Amino acid sequence: MDSYVLHAERPGDMDSLAARHRPRRAPGPGEVEIEVRAAGVNFADVLVVLGMGTVFGESDAHELGLDGVGTVVRVGSGAPGAHVGDRVLFFHEGAFASHVTVPAELVVAAPAALSDAEAATLPVAYLTAWYALVRLAGLGAGETALIQSAAGGVGLAAMNVARLHGARVLATSGTERKRQYLRELGVEHVLDSRSVAFADGVREISPDGVDVVLNSLAGKAQQAGLGLLRLHGRFVEIGKRDIYGGGTVELAPFRHNISMHSVDLLLLSRVDRPLVQALLAELSPLWADGRLEPLAHEVYPMREAPTAIRTLTTGRHVGKVILTVDGL
Ligand SMILES: NC(=O)c1ccc[n+]([C@@H]2O[C@H](COP(=O)([O-])OP(=O)(O)OC[C@H]3O[C@@H](n4cnc5c(N)ncnc54)[C@H](OP(=O)(O)O)[C@@H]3O)[C@@H](O)[C@H]2O)c1
Repeated sequence: MDSYVLHAERPGDMDSLAARHRPRRAPGPGEVEIEVRAAGVNFADVLVVLGMGTVFGESDAHELGLDGVGTVVRVGSGAPGAHVGDRVLFFHEGAFASHVTVPAELVVAAPAALSDAEAATLPVAYLTAWYALVRLAGLGAGETALIQSAAGGVGLAAMNVARLHGARVLATSGTERKRQYLRELGVEHVLDSRSVAFADGVREISPDGVDVVLNSLAGKAQQAGLGLLRLHGRFVEIGKRDIYGGGTVELAPFRHNISMHSVDLLLLSRVDRPLVQALLAELSPLWADGRLEPLAHEVYPMREAPTAIRTLTTGRHVGKVILTVDGL
């Protein structure tokens, strides 16, 4: 098949994932066409394949694949910085495909020193972590950040961003194997993400609480995280279950002058591209000189996409799962 996109023929049935022909689209004004080399699997893709895309919210019902790396093969008018042959990272839905046509603002040069799979670990994980911790939370040197589910893609990126800013990291994760992995990365305190007992653990380590919580845990764990914030603490919610599920928040922790933020990166890629472009511009030099490193990852060829996506549903993997794009 010369040009294809991966699609769940029957949402909810992982084995119905199939490549179907999609004609290439010539780039319009301000767009570029990219021949995709590798794409990241994100948790949002799992929800779409499981048929939960529209349950959680409009913006989750995206075309599969949100980010990747590839080569620019056509440039539309009004995209002056882009050139045919450029190797680029992109953040745009429809990445599980041979080709994508995307707005040039959502594209940035790929770090030359990285392989395709390494480069594909970067965009969504770091955009999310950077926007959450730097732009929203304003995490500073000497502050303490609690990173929930820190061994996942966003979690590992968040730890690297927090350390770059001189913050102390407390981490949680759901299995002993992943907690051991985090300890080997030098995280001193790693707690269990699958029990609210993590909150007691944090209080033992840091009796007056933490400055920032990066959260994707739902229900009681979310509330327990809020309760850990010290004066002027910032809570950044990146999970969507409680937001779309009509969850509520007890306000008692707000007596500490805390603030709560939420992130929907995909929505930003649709409605606020200048912001995404600015975030990519901030991250690009840090990726290029290795101050922010590629994340641990497993690689699968596109024809094994069901296996790759199932890997994320188990919650046992560390870091990113990457699909390499081939001829099928
Ligand atoms: N708001 C946004 O724009 C945005 C952008 C990117 C990601 N996210 C969210 O951030 C979180 C991490 O995303 P990611 O792409 O980095 O995914 P990921 O690598 O698959 O990490 C997800 C983590 O969630 C934890 N988890 C908890 N319950 C789980 C379950 N039932 N099944 C599988 N994993 C479970 C696991 O960590 P432990 O077992 O260690 O707890 C797993 O490592 C997800 O909730 C995702 O939806 C949000």
